[in-house]
Amino acid sequence: MRNNSFFREFLWGASTSAFQVEGAYDEKGKGLTTADIRSFKKSDIMADTKVAMDFYHHWEEDLKLLKEMGAKAYRFSISWARILPNGDDEKPNEEGLVFYENIINRLMEYKIEPIVTLYHFDLPYALVKKHNGWASRSCIDAFVRYANIVFERYKGKVKFWLTINEQNILAVNPSMMGIEAETVQESFKLCATGYYHMFLANAKVINLCHEKIPGAKIGPAVSYPTIFSMTPKSSDQIAADNAQKYMAQSALDIYIHGAYPEYYLTMLRKNHMEPHFLEGDQELLKSAKPDYIGLNWYVSMAGRAPEKKVETELKNVDKGQASYEEMTGAMPFEFEMCDNPYTPYNEWHWNYDPVAFRFALRKFEDMYHMPCLITENGCGHRDEIEEGSVHDTYRIEYLKQHIEQMKLAIEEDGVQVFGYCPWSFLDVLSSSDGVAKRYGLVYVDRDEFDLKHLKRIPKDSYYWYRDRIAVD
Ligand code: BG6
Repeated sequence: MRNNSFFREFLWGASTSAFQVEGAYDEKGKGLTTADIRSFKKSDIMADTKVAMDFYHHWEEDLKLLKEMGAKAYRFSISWARILPNGDDEKPNEEGLVFYENIINRLMEYKIEPIVTLYHFDLPYALVKKHNGWASRSCIDAFVRYANIVFERYKGKVKFWLTINEQNILAVNPSMMGIEAETVQESFKLCATGYYHMFLANAKVINLCHEKIPGAKIGPAVSYPTIFSMTPKSSDQIAADNAQKYMAQSALDIYIHGAYPEYYLTMLRKNHMEPHFLEGDQELLKSAKPDYIGLNWYVSMAGRAPEKKVETELKNVDKGQASYEEMTGAMPFEFEMCDNPYTPYNEWHWNYDPVAFRFALRKFEDMYHMPCLITENGCGHRDEIEEGSVHDTYRIEYLKQHIEQMKLAIEEDGVQVFGYCPWSFLDVLSSSDGVAKRYGLVYVDRDEFDLKHLKRIPKDSYYWYRDRIAVD
C-alpha cells in the first residue's frame, strides 16, 4: 500500500470534526452554528457542543497522541463560525485563524499531513437567520469568501482539502442544512434548492483552490453506504438501485460529471422540487474537477419496492429525531429502506458488514475511475474504563476486517484508495447520540453531563492501529 501513484505514501490517519471535538462553542469570537443549535435542542437529554471533548484546550496533548500513534495524516475540520462568526463578516476573526494555524504548524512539525474539511455540518447560524441557510444563493458567496480566507492563510501548508462533508446526508435533513420551513414538504423542497446551491458552492471552491494553490488536491466527502437489493425480485433490484442513486450515487455523479443526471432531474420534476437553474450554472458545475473523493463508509442496507408511505412529523425532522427510514421514506423516492437480514446490528441500529465495504469501493472504481480517500469508517460503542484501560476488542475487530477488505479492494480490484482515516481519532460528540456512542481510538473521560477531568486514555484499538499502520 506504500506505492500509490497519487501520493508518496499511503495516508494512514484518523478523523474528527470541529463541532464534535472542539467545545469552546462561544470562546474567542466564535459564532453559533447549526450544529450548536441542533445539539442545544437535546441538551436536557445528552451532551452538547458546549464542551464536547474540549479539544480547543487539549489540542497539544491530542496531537502528541496522534504523533505517537504514527499517523501520517489527520483529517479535521475548520469551524466556519470560528473564522467568520456570522458567516459573512467583513473581517475574519484573527483568534480563530490562529487556532487552526497552530494546529497546522504542529502537524507539519510532526510530519503529519493535514487534511482539512472546510464545512462539516456546522453552518454559521447567523446565515440561517439572515438567508434561511443554503436555501439562498447568498450562502454560496459566503462559503466562497470563507474558503478564500482560509486558502490564503494556509496555502503552502495544507495540500489536501475537503469542501463539504456529506452533503448527501444534509439533503434529507433540513435542520442540518440550516433550512427552516412550515411543513415537511416545504422543507424538502427548500432542501432540494439548498442541495443545488451546495453543488454550486462546491464547484466554485474547487476552482478557487486550483487557482490559488497549485498542486493542492481537493474534493468533497460523501456518505457512501452499500445498498443491496432485499431479494432477487426485479422490482426490489430497481428499488435498491433507486436508493443507491438518490442517497449517494447522485451526489457523486454531480460532483464528478458536473451535471444533474436525468434520473435525478426526473424525480425533482415529478415532485415539483426543481431548483432554479440560472445561466452560467451548468458551465460552472462542469468546470470544477475534484481531484479525489472522500468516502465515509459505515454500513450496508437493503432496499425494496415500497409497500407503504412512511410519514414523519416536522417536529421530528427539526429536532433531528426522525429516523433515517422516516426521513428517506418521507422523501418522494421510489424505494423503501430495510435492514440487511444477514448482518448483526448494534444498539443504535448500525450494522457490521466489512465485505460490503469492499463491494462499495469496487463499485466506486467501476463507475468513476478516480482516487479516493477513506475519510470515515468506524464503529460506535459504549466503551468502559477498566482499571485505567479501555479494552475495545470489538473496535479492533471492526478495524481489522475493514482494513483487510480495503486492502483486497486495492490489490485485487484496482481501487485507487490513497489513505484511510478511521472515525474517529478521539471520542467525539456523536452527531445524534451524545457521548454514549463512542467512536474514538482515544477515550475521553467524560459522561453525558459530568465533565470529570476529560482525561485522554488511548484504547486498546489505538495501540492495535499504531502497530498495524507501522507494517504497511
Ligand atoms: C458521519 C458524520 O455521517 O457519521 C460524522 O460525518 C458522524 O460527523 C458519523 O459522527 C457517525 O454518526 P453519528 O450520528 O453516530 O455521530
